[in-house]
Amino acid sequence: MSDRFLYEGKTKIVEISEDGQNVILTFKDDITAGDGAKHDVMSSKGLFCSEITARLMQYLNTKGVNTMFLNYLPPNKIRAKKLKMIPLEVIVRFKKAGSFVRRYGGTEGEDLPSPLVEFTYKSDVMHDPLVCVEHLEVMGIVNKSIAEKIIEEAKKTAMLLKEFFSLHTFELWDIKFEYGVDEDGNICLGDEISPDTMRLRKSGEIFDKDIYRRDLGNPMEKYEVVLNICRSILL
Ligand code: TYD
Repeated sequence: MSDRFLYEGKTKIVEISEDGQNVILTFKDDITAGDGAKHDVMSSKGLFCSEITARLMQYLNTKGVNTMFLNYLPPNKIRAKKLKMIPLEVIVRFKKAGSFVRRYGGTEGEDLPSPLVEFTYKSDVMHDPLVCVEHLEVMGIVNKSIAEKIIEEAKKTAMLLKEFFSLHTFELWDIKFEYGVDEDGNICLGDEISPDTMRLRKSGEIFDKDIYRRDLGNPMEKYEVVLNICRSILL
C-alpha cells in the first residue's frame, strides 16, 4: 500500500497527490445499495461517475460554488482540494421519493412546496440517522451558523444543477451533497455528484441508481446518457 494512501470507501480511494498539495480520488467500478447489502462491479462505472463529477463540479465552480474539483485525470481520477470532511450527508429534495416517502408517505415524484434540506449523520454502526440542526450542535458536528451556511449552499447548488439538467429536459428530483472545510477555512463541496447521488428522470424514465436499487436493467447505459449531457460542460 502506498504511503500516500488515506482512505478506501465502497466506491472511491483517496490518496495524497505526488506533490503532497492535493488529494487524488480514484472512482472504482463498484456499485452498492442498501448500506452495502447489495454490491456489484460494473465496467466503466468509475469512468462515468468521475467524469460526470468533474464536469458538474467544473460547472459549479464557474457559477461561484466552492467545490473541491481541480482537474479531471482520465479515465477515473480527480485531483481535488484537501478537505477536512464533515460527517454529514446533506440531501436536497425537490420532489418526494425514496426515504422521504418511506418515512412520511405521499407519492414518488410528487412536488414539494419548496426545496427541502435534510441532514443524515454518517455513521455505519448507527445506519446514518436523520439529524436536526440542533442535534448537530449538541453532537459537536457543526454549530448553528455553519449548519445554516451549509443549508444555503446546498439549496443554491441544487438549484444550479436542477437548472442545468432542465435545459437538457431532465428533472432533478433530489441530490445528496457532502461538505468539508478547505485549507482557507471555507465550506467546500466534496465527494461526488453523479447518478449514484441524485435522482434524475426524463418523461418517467430513470437515469440514476434507482435502476440498480430496484433491479430495472443495466444502469450504465443510462449513466452514459447523463455523461453525454455533461460533456456540454467544458473542462
Ligand atoms: P434518500 O431518498 O434519502 O435515500 P434512499 O435512496 O435510500 O431512499 O436519498 C435521497 C437522495 O440522496 C437520492 O438521490 C440518493 C442520495 N443518497 C446518497 O447518494 N447516499 C446516501 O447515503 C443517501 C441516504 C442518499
